[in-house]
Amino acid sequence: MLKGTEWFASDRPDDHMRPKTVNDMRRFIEGMPKAELHVHVEGTLEPALKLELARRNGIELPYRSVEEMRAAYDFDDLPSFLRVYYEGMSVLLTEQDFRDLTAAYLTRAHSQNVTYAEMFFDPQAHTARGVAFETVIRGIRRAQEEARASLGIRTRLIMCFLRDLSAQSAMATLEESRPYRDWIVGVGLDSDESGNPPIKFKAVFATARAQGFRLTMHCDVDQEDSTRHIWQTLDDIGVDRIDHGVNSLEDEALCAEIVRRGLALTVCPISNRCVAGSLKALEVRRMLEMGMRATVNSDDPAYFPGYMNENLVATWEAAELSREQIVQLAVNAFEASWAAPEEKLALRSELDDYVASQGAGRQGEPLVRG
Ligand code: ADE
Ligand code: ZN
Repeated sequence: MLKGTEWFASDRPDDHMRPKTVNDMRRFIEGMPKAELHVHVEGTLEPALKLELARRNGIELPYRSVEEMRAAYDFDDLPSFLRVYYEGMSVLLTEQDFRDLTAAYLTRAHSQNVTYAEMFFDPQAHTARGVAFETVIRGIRRAQEEARASLGIRTRLIMCFLRDLSAQSAMATLEESRPYRDWIVGVGLDSDESGNPPIKFKAVFATARAQGFRLTMHCDVDQEDSTRHIWQTLDDIGVDRIDHGVNSLEDEALCAEIVRRGLALTVCPISNRCVAGSLKALEVRRMLEMGMRATVNSDDPAYFPGYMNENLVATWEAAELSREQIVQLAVNAFEASWAAPEEKLALRSELDDYVASQGAGRQGEPLVRG
């Protein structure tokens, strides 16, 4: 299983030996305007920034270097990852910390031609440590505004509830978010799924819906009762999107219903490899072939080593996707985004212009692998 110490596929020393068509396709993916719909902002906390913030805030970490920290990223399932993820957040204390964290992610995303990003944040993971909701959201918001002005990247914020806490705590967090209603486009559900089904949060999500929030929920990969949980997100919650949701492929009727509703799934291949042992790249391909609106995303890229481009390249290589399918993944993400209609049009036309400029607009063009 891949550990945090192993790095991007694109850093391979034999890169120059690879067939030209392979490098062409990689360049195509890297240059393509992309939307990211599944990234936890706290999961973008790179080791170097974690060390810097620890120093700034006088916090003692059990690691002295980036290498030591990466070596300790030795998770192989969701609970073991979550322990490292929550521990890492201890360095985030001030509004400036949240600004710096978000700014670093948006700079990196922009460098990969991500033109639109919807970021999750976990307010309860901070308020439980005594960091005010206001501190968290004001810092993130400042970075969003700065990145829009300086880089042109468009962003939205999705507030996640921690499913291993109570529904009452989620409801209190929803209430706490009220003054910032206009800064949050939707609500989600993350953390440990085991024993915490979607239905536990039915009333919270109904209230959020009534307040005008978009709804999504994590249905993590290879969890117990996974298809039952995905059915609950449809029948009991009425989600607008599903995060992960790869196990839906085990249930034909569930897939048909997801297609009928036109729901997008935010698949995170490198994350899957780290916590479930496989990219699930063939599953992404199957979803596309079945008309499911699959998208590819990075989840927690500072921990699961790969941002958008690395996730797309890994998926393309493992599933031998065609160029048309790569473009379909990008189209799905823009179309399933919660951007305003006029923004969506602008974002889509940037993608369409890019595809046309690359001579990749012909339908059904297979990728000739060298
Ligand atoms: N919180 C951060 N990353 C997560 C993931 N991949 N699954 C569930 N909760 C998370
Ligand atoms: Zn996630």
